[in-house]
Amino acid sequence: MALSVVILAAGQGRRMQSSLPKPLHLLAGKPMLMHVLEAVDQLGTDEVFVVYSNGLEAYENACKNSGFDNNISFIYQEKQLGTGHAVHQVLPHVNPGNQVLVLFADVPLLPISLLQELVNTQRHDTVSVVTTELDDPSGFGRIVRDQNRQIVSIVEHKDSSDLELAINEINTGIMRLPEPYLSKWLPQLTNENAQGEYYLTDVVALAVAEGIAVEGLVAEDSQSVLGVNDRTQLAQMERYYQLSLAEDLLNQGISLADPHRFDCRGDVEIGKDVFIDVGVILEGTNKVGDGCHIGPHVVMKNVTLGDNVRIEAFSLLDGAVVGNRSIVGPYARLRPYSHLGEDVKVGNFVEIKKSTLAAGVKANHLSYIGDAQVGAGSNIGAGTITCNYDGKNKHITEIGKGVFVGSNSSFVAPVSIGEGATVAAGSVITDNVPANTLAIARNRQQLVADWQAKVSERVPLEQEEST
Ligand code: UD1
Ligand code: CA
Repeated sequence: MALSVVILAAGQGRRMQSSLPKPLHLLAGKPMLMHVLEAVDQLGTDEVFVVYSNGLEAYENACKNSGFDNNISFIYQEKQLGTGHAVHQVLPHVNPGNQVLVLFADVPLLPISLLQELVNTQRHDTVSVVTTELDDPSGFGRIVRDQNRQIVSIVEHKDSSDLELAINEINTGIMRLPEPYLSKWLPQLTNENAQGEYYLTDVVALAVAEGIAVEGLVAEDSQSVLGVNDRTQLAQMERYYQLSLAEDLLNQGISLADPHRFDCRGDVEIGKDVFIDVGVILEGTNKVGDGCHIGPHVVMKNVTLGDNVRIEAFSLLDGAVVGNRSIVGPYARLRPYSHLGEDVKVGNFVEIKKSTLAAGVKANHLSYIGDAQVGAGSNIGAGTITCNYDGKNKHITEIGKGVFVGSNSSFVAPVSIGEGATVAAGSVITDNVPANTLAIARNRQQLVADWQAKVSERVPLEQEEST
């Protein structure tokens, strides 16, 4: 049966104390709402509605950035009069006869299998709610069951009797029911309750009154269906997410020095026999080949590593491709469009931007290589810099194969160095250097014999103090 998804995202989110709408706060590098949309994307939906109250442009941009720009209708809820009222705003737009799945934008880590069970295997003439059991259920709506364990109602915490407060089974807010039921019951909701709101949860009692079965699907993993109301819960959710991801990686045969000190904010594909040390942060889409070693506190964003690559401590890689057996760092920075071939060595305090270093190139210490192409086997001495920017435009430095660049040389681009050339240390290269040529571009050392350094006349100490 066709499915309409309604995602409630109009709450004020006051407890976040933020100018950003709560559903756009990041979890594992992605807005919470995107996590929900990704889960929904796997359900095969007919239509998706997001109920919002402010920041429409921010919502639209976030959706566009994540590739969810089509297929989502944003519905405005002017006043936040409750979850029932919010769903009511969507009702006129829902395809008549569809099943309706209600989700909350602040419940970001929905297990797909649970949602699939909810929409595929549950009976379609019933109301289904996802529940879970908590040691501390305070704040949540309680699931009230009769002697036969049948659900009879959901009572909000603030409306609960002492007896109901003792119930540990809570409403997660995830609900599925047919559109015709909603159309009948939503207009019947009242706001005569502790919060003066139109509660969606009240449809459960209305169903029971009409003899319609209410099924409860109990989520075993409570954390995955809990909501985020403040920054503490967001941080807890982040840790829960990261730890479960780390455990997945361990199960796939990847070594993590400490699963509690690993963060992946995006997607990662990792080969066999890979070791990841503590404090590593992976952002965006990263691919790591077999046998790689990633040292402590490395940050990698949209990076591809070949096989047996070593990234040493405190290196920062962004948009780089690193060939097999190359070694990067410690303290190296690879910026976007850095392409390192096989067996390349990039050492400490070396920055590379938009440059290709062919196989076997070595740049071991303190260099900046920008907008350059370096041929196979060339050696870039310590302190070498490409002067790629003239204040207005960027220019290219071309270095051929097997070039030896002495320490502290500068290449004033555009400039090209032929194959097998040697650049003497301390040279400022402003003109092209032909192949197999030595370029020396510095002042000759001068020696002045018997030089007596000038010494300023010393003022006696006592005198100095009195002046
Ligand atoms: C809700 C449930 C409660 C459940 C809990 C689980 C109701 C009445 N209560 O309580 O049973 O245990 O979630 O987390 O449904 N929203 C709107 N418009 C509104 C009000 C809310 O869009 O007018 C959205 C919020 O942005 C949020 C969601 O609905 O995404 C839930 O609202 P919230 O106020 O957080 O409900 P809870 O008190 O947490
Ligand atoms: Ca909530």
